[in-house]
Amino acid sequence: MSKPIIIANWKMNPVSLREAKNLFSSVCKKVKNSKAEVVFCPPFVYFSIFSVRFPSNVKIGAQNCYFEKEGAFTGEVSVFQLADLKCNYVIVGHSERRKYFSETDLIVNKKVGAVLDNKMTPVLCVGETKEQRDRGSVQDVLNIQLREGLRNIPGAKLLKQGFLVAYEPIWAIGTGRPCDVEEGQKMRLLIKKILAKLYSQNTANRIGVLYGGSVNSKNAAGYIKEAGFEGLLVGGASLKASEFSQIVKNSI
Ligand code: PGA
Repeated sequence: MSKPIIIANWKMNPVSLREAKNLFSSVCKKVKNSKAEVVFCPPFVYFSIFSVRFPSNVKIGAQNCYFEKEGAFTGEVSVFQLADLKCNYVIVGHSERRKYFSETDLIVNKKVGAVLDNKMTPVLCVGETKEQRDRGSVQDVLNIQLREGLRNIPGAKLLKQGFLVAYEPIWAIGTGRPCDVEEGQKMRLLIKKILAKLYSQNTANRIGVLYGGSVNSKNAAGYIKEAGFEGLLVGGASLKASEFSQIVKNSI
């Protein structure tokens, strides 16, 4: 993977369309000549920000989706609808979805399959809690999340549509306590090893692994250049135009 992929996960922010438009346009201006691919994942209500012209290295992303095409699913947004809006990436299985909205590995698996079927790239989030880490069960947790999240999904399909894993240790998300670069490097290799076992070494080599969890402009470069991550999933820092643009800049 040559160019880093930097994803802005706005979560349920900002609180007005005006702010969303301003944030989008000011980041676009700052990153338009970057060699990195920059993906914006705004709340669905702000998808109209993408109706203006934006730089070719900027892509459309979603924070979530529902796996059915259409029908009586009040409040949900389908993968089919996202594909129709030219969405390129869909975050699946974020720990906040797993925690607050009871998303299981089975639901995550259906979503990954539906995103691929609709020709978009899933970004499958995995990661352990502090308790799981202290207990020494990180490997088991990642094994289960990847095996179940990818159950019955052929490697050829992942490679055709593109597929990313985001390693997001839950204890690092929104805490200001990011994972050490060295530890991140180990986790990236562990994820690659699990993918190689589930598929093949060649498939694993072609799947990018992103890091997420308290990324900022000071630590961003380390994850890409030292730990070898193929990109970053940025939450809090993606809400500040200058800080986020600096992250993009430092990733090259
Ligand atoms: P954070 O969030 O950068 O605010 O830690 C990352 C994420 O949850 O994707």
